[in-house]
Amino acid sequence: MLQTATNHNANQTDLAVQRCINPSCGASFESRSVRTSCDRCGDLLDIEYDWDRVAVPASLRGFEEAWSQRTNPVRFSGVWRFHELLPFAPLEQVITVGEGQTLLQKANHVARYVGMNSDQLYLQYEGMNPSGSFKDNGMCAAVTHANMMGAKRAACASTGNTSASLALYCSATQLMRAIIFVGSGKIAYGKLSQALDYGALTVQIAGDFDDAMIRVRQVAKELGIYLVNSVNPFRLEGQKTIMFRVLEALNWEVPDWIVVPGGNLGNSSSFGKAFMELKKLGLIDRIPRLAVINAGGADTLYELFERRGVRWNDGNVQMDPIIEYNDIMDRESIKADTIASAIEINRPVNLKKCLRALEWMNGVVRQVSDQEILDAKAKVGAGGFGCEPASAASVAGAKLLRREGLIAPSDRVVCVLTGHELKDPTATVAYHTTDQELFNKTLGSRGVSKASHANRAVAVPNELDDIIKAIQLYA
Ligand code: F0G
Repeated sequence: MLQTATNHNANQTDLAVQRCINPSCGASFESRSVRTSCDRCGDLLDIEYDWDRVAVPASLRGFEEAWSQRTNPVRFSGVWRFHELLPFAPLEQVITVGEGQTLLQKANHVARYVGMNSDQLYLQYEGMNPSGSFKDNGMCAAVTHANMMGAKRAACASTGNTSASLALYCSATQLMRAIIFVGSGKIAYGKLSQALDYGALTVQIAGDFDDAMIRVRQVAKELGIYLVNSVNPFRLEGQKTIMFRVLEALNWEVPDWIVVPGGNLGNSSSFGKAFMELKKLGLIDRIPRLAVINAGGADTLYELFERRGVRWNDGNVQMDPIIEYNDIMDRESIKADTIASAIEINRPVNLKKCLRALEWMNGVVRQVSDQEILDAKAKVGAGGFGCEPASAASVAGAKLLRREGLIAPSDRVVCVLTGHELKDPTATVAYHTTDQELFNKTLGSRGVSKASHANRAVAVPNELDDIIKAIQLYA
């Protein structure tokens, strides 16, 4: 029987601290404080728990009990039903809008495309979240902490999904005002429309995501606004639950590979932490391998990890190659550029945490072209519920790793589909279109030359005979 995570009379702050990830610093700070970096050395922060005092179930199966309590909104949540694995807030203070009702689909159509055996490839549809992306997993945690801290305004820079998620949590809870920073012209309309519709103050910066990220950090500090980007360690706690739900859907069996697109590298970082903690708690006996997939036009992690050999190295990350590469990007004005606008990021803020996750999960990094991303996306859509371009990088990456022989046909692989199909209809329509001009304008400029898996609309005169003929010809 699952016990509630915490003794609600106890001082909850004792269960968690914010700890600097740099082992040679290791400074810790109260969990009930607002910071996005270490005061002492400036590095990223983790949430660390006093596990001896948390009533974690003896096995992962113990979490099934929480689902039976789903008339309680907190246990209905696909995040908070794992509260015992992220117990930084008392259960009665957590905020939920019903996030985490997502689906792991056994996808044989994609398995064939990737070159895997039947029944071995799974797609984790995180686009089924309330705001249509995986961000809600983390946002409910960040907004919970923000609310505990009495925040009345919360901000983020975004390629679109974080902003949509923050805007939704603010509108649905009415607890705080959302202020979002987006790069001008750098956000898919589905996402921008959400922020506008949900009433967020939307600040369009004349620049890209990397510029917006720098500015939002300055503004949050200057005006004392709560920052919910993934430098916020509480947000990443919520994102761990994506992996808990994957395990749950696999009847608590650990897969061989987790494949995930990489942008700001929050997801990959949180997955590493999730598996490391489960292993430490004795809830799993092995950790899957991680593959982080960059878009070719935004491949800083690939460049640093695979080409320049930068490693976590037990916390002694070699900074020289990172600084050198940043200088090159500055000097040559290299800007991220990909149809997968969600991951159009060249200066990932969670780089070090992701390097740590790659070490813990024996990970690899790959980059895929926009052509590969869109072809994989069409395959996902043709046999399932679809996804946005960035999400399909995971499937394109799995295909590449399969071709390289790193993934075996008999491995069990989970590709995380991070965002909903309808987030970016422009890219989808441009891929399937018969309008060559639209194709060239939207995709051709990014090196996409063909749409091998396009499902083209059939144009017919407004005549019954012609319509019937067309249907008989094609279906
Ligand atoms: N996929 C989608 C659909 C995303 O929106 C993002 C990130 C990623 C993948 C990359 O995830 O940053 O954890 O490596 N979107 C952020 C945003 C940056 O602002 O919405 P990551």
